[in-house]
Amino acid sequence: MRINSLAEYLAQVDTLNHHAHRYYVLDDPEISDAEYDQAYQALLQYETEFPESIVPNSPTQRVADQPLSHFESVAHALPMLSLGNVFSEDELMAFDARVQKGLSVHEQINYAAEPKLDGLAVSIRYEKGLLVQAATRGDGQKGENITANVKTMATVPLKLTAKQVPDVLEVRGEVVMLRKGFHEYNAWAEKNGEKVFANPRNAAAGSLRQLDPRKTAQRPLSFFAYSVGEVSTSFQLKKHSDVMSQLREFGFQINHLNQVVQGVSGCMAFYQKVGHLRAALDFDIDGVVYKVDDLSQQETLGFVTKAPRWATAHKFPAEEATTVIEAIDVQVGRTGSITPVARLKAVTVGGVSITNATLHNEDEIRRKDVRVGDTVFVRRAGDVIPEVVKVVLSKRPEDSETFEMPSQCPVCDSQLFKAEGEAVLRCLNGLNCDAQRKESIKHFSSRKGMDIDGLGDKLVEQLVDAGLIKTPADLYHLKEAQVSGLERMAQKSAQNLLNGIEQSKQNTLPRFIYSLGIREVGEATALTLANAFKGMEALIKADEAALVALPDVGEVVAARILHYFKQENNLQVIQALLDAGITWPEIEAPVESELTLSGKTVVLTGKLSQMTRSEAKNALQALGAKVTGSVSAKTDLLVAGENAGSKLAKAQDLGVEVVDEQWLVDQSKLLR
Ligand code: IVH
Repeated sequence: MRINSLAEYLAQVDTLNHHAHRYYVLDDPEISDAEYDQAYQALLQYETEFPESIVPNSPTQRVADQPLSHFESVAHALPMLSLGNVFSEDELMAFDARVQKGLSVHEQINYAAEPKLDGLAVSIRYEKGLLVQAATRGDGQKGENITANVKTMATVPLKLTAKQVPDVLEVRGEVVMLRKGFHEYNAWAEKNGEKVFANPRNAAAGSLRQLDPRKTAQRPLSFFAYSVGEVSTSFQLKKHSDVMSQLREFGFQINHLNQVVQGVSGCMAFYQKVGHLRAALDFDIDGVVYKVDDLSQQETLGFVTKAPRWATAHKFPAEEATTVIEAIDVQVGRTGSITPVARLKAVTVGGVSITNATLHNEDEIRRKDVRVGDTVFVRRAGDVIPEVVKVVLSKRPEDSETFEMPSQCPVCDSQLFKAEGEAVLRCLNGLNCDAQRKESIKHFSSRKGMDIDGLGDKLVEQLVDAGLIKTPADLYHLKEAQVSGLERMAQKSAQNLLNGIEQSKQNTLPRFIYSLGIREVGEATALTLANAFKGMEALIKADEAALVALPDVGEVVAARILHYFKQENNLQVIQALLDAGITWPEIEAPVESELTLSGKTVVLTGKLSQMTRSEAKNALQALGAKVTGSVSAKTDLLVAGENAGSKLAKAQDLGVEVVDEQWLVDQSKLLR
């Protein structure tokens, strides 16, 4: 590919910007990464030959090549305000009553409801459609000039994509680091001895305040627009939600959860909905925001000191709190991994009382230098295990000592080891270690595993401690008299347990494989293995080539599986389980034809809110689908998330069946 004229060059700039927008903002690419790279190289080539032709919105102009010595201060044309807060329905009703009073109306107000993104507010100024300046919020009146850094963000258009653009437009919004990118970045930073961030917000802040834009460019930052600052008179719209749609047209990313709702009840429903989705979102939020949608009503309501009367934030309960570490214990996991756990003075975080927080591993303890007696910040995000974020050093007791990990397993006393390149210390005593024995049996009987009714974690511990079971297979030889002899175990519950164990014999092969607890073999992989090998014998005999040939089985997973079946004691337990009478309906060939999407070609498009793209892809494959990138006459089904664009239009043109994300979620549940 070669660019031969200025006209071709300008067209190529537009084409590349279009594809970058499809990729980063709409999450719906039309060309492959390789095709993009090739076109980008051609552009670069032309610009090297004709540097005088370079236009400011060329994608090559995103990264300046010189670090700054400092950030300049810039005054905001209009102040960047903050928001009032409400924490309960009552407070929300009071807010709504003030709005109605201010407008002299007694009717339901329309509110634009949006998630409250937990990042950094930024104002980006466009003149005649071109990005000229970007600034942090600062104190609301003056901020720092971070233009070079903001230009590196692919979700920020360098030029507004419209024929008619206002002379001046300041777009305001939040810069966040997506969770996935945050974890990837931290993993990379840890390996390369760079600063590791405590949370995505700090990471976004640190990245934006980088004096070297080349570094910012490498950080996975994302910009969501949520309001405007100074605008020229040509930008006249009636509603906030229309402003958002217009910004979307200009090429900005608008949050897919944004929605116009009616009155307090609409706001509350939105708050609940977003609260439920919170843990699954790919960005952190700390609440939701309600804004009176009608702009003339906003104008009537005006401002109080620093915040508008027409908007408020409805905060989620805090997710961080401080407390004191009373002790540090180490726990032994199912696979022998040793995890240090902080025992905390009880504290309420995000509405839940917590007394334990994970310290992950030895390296983490070293890095954060966590000690018994320390006052620490603990954080709980959604469903994840609470963790210790950092130590408040000023409150450290004088006599505190650094924490040393044990060299022996706290349960079976055997020597602990750390594999090369791993951060985790392990007990290698396998099922001879009572802790691993208990965890393996809990995993075996868990809901996703053999699903044994009446066998909870406590009972497993009692049974192991009493010496009644050593392996999962022993469960199937328990006698009622043995079980009812246990503490707090009446005859009735003993009988219930035995019934539950008996019933679990009629099971399914995927569950059986999952329940063995092979490292790295979760539900999805267990299903893949069951479908591929159709029985234990073939699975046990499978070699590396046969394993890696399967979707989502890589070399690491294959190695774990091979290792597991090499251990003689594992084979003995499997045999004992089969001898005890565990069976499953035979998996007929080809079992795939029974799956909802067997043989179907499926395309995924738009934004998903309940799962990531790769989870959706895995789910589709587990349902038997072949997942492809573009819609054609061969496509059988399109799964369309929010803001689906050209693929949806094309599917509708071709009469391809279209379903939404919820459909996929429901279908995946049926598989379990
Ligand atoms: S609107 C005049 N909308 O919250 C209204 N702010 O406490 C100005 N924020 O500094 C803000 N998500 O950093 C608005 N959807 C959203 C938001 C949002 C997050 C942040 C923003 C602002 C702070 C105000």
